[in-house]
Amino acid sequence: MNIDWSSLGFHYTEPEYIVRAGYHDGKWEEPYATKDKYLHLHVSATCLQYGQEAFEGLKAFRGIDGKIRIFRWRDNARRMAKSAEGLFMAPVPEELFGKAIRLALDKNIDFVPPYGTGATLYFRPLLIGTTPRLGVGPGRDFEFIVIPSPIGPYYPGKFHCTTFIVNRYVDRAAPYGTGPFKVGGNYASSFRATEPAHAMGCDCIFLDAKYHRYIDECSAANFIGIKGNEYLTPRSSAILPSITNDSLMTLAKEMGMKVTRRHIRLEELADMSEAAACGTAAVISPMNKVVDTEKGVTYSFGDEPGPVLSTLYRALKDIQYGRAEDKHGWTEIIDMT
Ligand SMILES: Cc1ncc(COP(=O)(O)O)c(C=O)c1O
Repeated sequence: MNIDWSSLGFHYTEPEYIVRAGYHDGKWEEPYATKDKYLHLHVSATCLQYGQEAFEGLKAFRGIDGKIRIFRWRDNARRMAKSAEGLFMAPVPEELFGKAIRLALDKNIDFVPPYGTGATLYFRPLLIGTTPRLGVGPGRDFEFIVIPSPIGPYYPGKFHCTTFIVNRYVDRAAPYGTGPFKVGGNYASSFRATEPAHAMGCDCIFLDAKYHRYIDECSAANFIGIKGNEYLTPRSSAILPSITNDSLMTLAKEMGMKVTRRHIRLEELADMSEAAACGTAAVISPMNKVVDTEKGVTYSFGDEPGPVLSTLYRALKDIQYGRAEDKHGWTEIIDMT
């Protein structure tokens, strides 16, 4: 295999195998690996007709010791089970989820990027409803698929800041809608806001859909603000519970910070010394500016990532790459040496 790891972008590279398991007559089949990347799917499948689809995203890292570490896969399995319940789908049992990730890793072991390249093996677990149905309603048959793909570092150069634009014209998710579930519809409906922002080299901040007053989250990441010695992150029924945010909150507490999850008014950005988006893709994406075009206000945090977020960023990456002790049992080590 001939992959130039250093020039690998942050996008899909075809793996050799994907892993699949079907659910029929109330039972999951054993996961199996296949080279076939196409599905033979009925045109009336509930995933196509009614958006019965949920997904996940997690990574395996080649550590400094040559060992491969899969980060917090059980949390992704639990979150996917919640997404499945949210869309009336059969949840994938945790053990089956783990088995499928392991099989996808074993069958694509040459796709795990070497240590030092910043590249990782990303897994995209996907759950879809496959029962043909034209009357509105959920399916009874499902397909669980794990798609692995090596991806390049989010920051190919140095850790840097991004400008975020406040969006008020597209609501990502309603207060009691599908926001806390990782389902395709949330993303499709946000493209109207995210694509114009991305075209300007920026990202978006979504506000709560009811009042447009509080920060909800970013397009594919939670929000973090640093105010004095406090780590602030939004409390909202419409946002995805980020596993990265949960990890960073734990590390922040260990660093002696006060961690607060509460409603955060947009104007509070003015009192914060640092702000960022956080998620599996980038770990932390610091904000240099948040631009509220409608109100004509710009919140500035400086052009370089701030000291608190930089420390948290390094602390989490050190655990993922085996450079620091994993006191919380977040990584599962796969010893291939
Ligand atoms: C909407 C949304 N919020 C937050 C996150 C961050 O979650 P995690 O840290 O588990 O990747 C993601 C990415 O998965 C996301 O798509």
